Amino acid sequence: MWTFRVRASVAVAILALGSAAAAGVVATTQSSDEQALQPTRQPADRSVESKVNRLLAQMTLEEKLEQIQLLPDFMVTEEEVRNGLGSVLSVTDPARIRELQRIAVEESRLGIPMLFAFDTIHGFRTIFPIPLGAGASFDPQVAFDDHNYGARESAAVGLKQTYAPMVDVSHEPRWGRIAEAAGEDPYLNAVLAAARVKAIQGRDYSARDKLVASPKHLAAYGEPESGRDYNTTDMSVQRLHNLYLPPFKAAIDAGADTVMCSFNAINGVPGCGNRDLMTRILKGEWRFDGFVESDWTAVSELRACPPKNPDAGECGHGVAEDGPAAAALALNSGVDSEMTSTLIRDFGAQLLAEDRISMRRIDDAVRRILRIKFRAGLFENPYAPFQPAEAEQQMLLPDAVAAARNAASRSMVLLQNEGSVLPFDPSKKTAVIGPLARNQHDMLGPWWGAGRDEDVVTVFDGINEQSPGATYAEGCKLSNTEVPHEDPEGCGSDAGFAEAVAVAQAADQVVLALGETREMSGEANSRSTLDLPGRQEELIRAIGATGKPFALVLFSGRPLALEDVVGDAPAILEAWFPGVQAGPAVADVVFGKVNPGGKLPVSIPYRVGQVPIYYNHEQTGRPCNKNVKWNSQHRDIPSCSPLFVFGHGLSYTTFEVSNLQLSSSTVSKKGSIKASVTVTNTGSRAGDEVAQLYIHDPVASISQPVRRLRGFERVTLNPGETRTVTFTLDRSDFGFYDNRGKFVVEPGQIDVYAGNSSNSDMKRSFTVRR
Ligand code: BGC
Repeated sequence: MWTFRVRASVAVAILALGSAAAAGVVATTQSSDEQALQPTRQPADRSVESKVNRLLAQMTLEEKLEQIQLLPDFMVTEEEVRNGLGSVLSVTDPARIRELQRIAVEESRLGIPMLFAFDTIHGFRTIFPIPLGAGASFDPQVAFDDHNYGARESAAVGLKQTYAPMVDVSHEPRWGRIAEAAGEDPYLNAVLAAARVKAIQGRDYSARDKLVASPKHLAAYGEPESGRDYNTTDMSVQRLHNLYLPPFKAAIDAGADTVMCSFNAINGVPGCGNRDLMTRILKGEWRFDGFVESDWTAVSELRACPPKNPDAGECGHGVAEDGPAAAALALNSGVDSEMTSTLIRDFGAQLLAEDRISMRRIDDAVRRILRIKFRAGLFENPYAPFQPAEAEQQMLLPDAVAAARNAASRSMVLLQNEGSVLPFDPSKKTAVIGPLARNQHDMLGPWWGAGRDEDVVTVFDGINEQSPGATYAEGCKLSNTEVPHEDPEGCGSDAGFAEAVAVAQAADQVVLALGETREMSGEANSRSTLDLPGRQEELIRAIGATGKPFALVLFSGRPLALEDVVGDAPAILEAWFPGVQAGPAVADVVFGKVNPGGKLPVSIPYRVGQVPIYYNHEQTGRPCNKNVKWNSQHRDIPSCSPLFVFGHGLSYTTFEVSNLQLSSSTVSKKGSIKASVTVTNTGSRAGDEVAQLYIHDPVASISQPVRRLRGFERVTLNPGETRTVTFTLDRSDFGFYDNRGKFVVEPGQIDVYAGNSSNSDMKRSFTVRR
């Protein structure tokens, strides 16, 4: 049987990550992030291929077109299942899944099982931190745990596919879906995508606790103009290849067997009508033999607006005249499975008769779907491994909940900590204040899967558990409206501020829990400002005026613009949306049980007008310089940089990253070179540091980013302990894609930077020989 082989070294490295180091000097030879990127794809299994071909030979055209159809639960009819419906999404009730599957297997002519899919984005029932938070952990183990438990819980109800990982690199924090992937860097996204795919699929996704993964959304969905979801993307070829495709490639190399195409158009060509991406690159160059499903109604969105009724909700990109044309374009471009709209199913026979699509292409699409169903073991085991009544017992098991707590605390980023306000002493009286302080709903973040508000331990309860007798005041209420124009922010009144101030005054220290609600990020939730919603900044100032030591704990699905906050809050902890264990994880960090070690996976701007602002930008002819005028800058922003840079994050201890060494001063185009750094805990507490390695190509045929992350390793060190971390750089690191989409390695100097943020200036150089 066709299997994924996770190389032993990779599995060991992933499992060993995060464990505390032994005292003394430890040398790491291959960093864990490099290992997570090792390919695991295996060639197709012949016995599966012959089973697929035998089955395909028995199928009628109607059955083939049904196999291509993917419907949401509310559109599924028993009759369509009997006709051979291919797949169903978003049903999570185990009894309903079992019954639908029974009809498919027992009552359809060929008994082909259906594939049940769901968006397990950061947990199914045990909700982990949002993926942007997991990105901040700089720890593949966190991403791995999230999907390992997410797959186990999903599979328990009968699901066999997940629309994850979401791997859309984004420089656009106004876009609500920046919450769903690992931020602005392709390398970090690639490493975590590979770890997620391995966790979802395991060695063999026919296993009872595994699913097939579906990285999404192909491609460049993370750069919608103005940050408005679904909006147009205009993109140079080099950027597409250098910034947006690498995480997809990493996910495919890790074995991902399905892919979702995107809603957005790139250079006028929508993702689900994009032959170049789906057929030439994914299925051709990358040899992907699984199937591509369209995003929700993305096939019908290829159409033009009906001329007489432009508001009918049927307006689309206008690259296809009508339904049949959209179906032909999607199928011919590489869509194998159509989600929600039904154009390929409805018009397939007509299009075939008119010679606008071929039987060869229909067979190819169906073959790909059946291949995945065989690999998933659905023909032998079409049902969930548990009876419906038992599935509930598989949820929120102690190991999953413990992993969620660990993931949440490892994802938190200490942005500032003036006067070492944090950690707090739990024996003192702690007030927990703010609209997110005693809140279950918002802690789950967007894409909460099958998570339930009542599963969440609030910040107040977590703090009160470790600092008994804690007090609480809400301050104000944020808005949870789903309707974009109706009071989208909330916290518009200061009526509760006096009570909050009184509660702060009666305490020794204050945890101020502010930020966004979960409705403010995720799909179709873009914002035009990155400010703290409503009057929360005033609440910070009111608490500050009490003179009590306080820490601002921020919950958000995006980087917020903190220009007006940094001066008023001495300690700021970015907690993202931490999931079901929000309270315990916040308490762990606030009271110092866990020393924060997360780093920013996105730049935090001063204000929204700087956006897009990202560390991996190209140089300009006139780089920003605040001392002179005629260069690239905003005259009304005090700095050339973001407020907090990519890779930034503090700890309760101090570290030194030093001694950058290269194994050689030159390298051949096909060779490799090692770069090592020494990380020392120079403070008095054990803690985590992320050694980060960046490169820059100062002279190239196209202008290169000023820094590109090419290696990282999160290490845990005791006081005084030192560790050497070694990274290997090869052509995949010092080469780049040009504007023809060709990967080139050019001779010349490469600068290597190492440190603990993207600002690091410790530098060495080597030369790539001719
Ligand atoms: C989203 C996808 C998701 C799909 C199914 C779409 O609206 O863009 O990310 O997988 O719905 O829920």
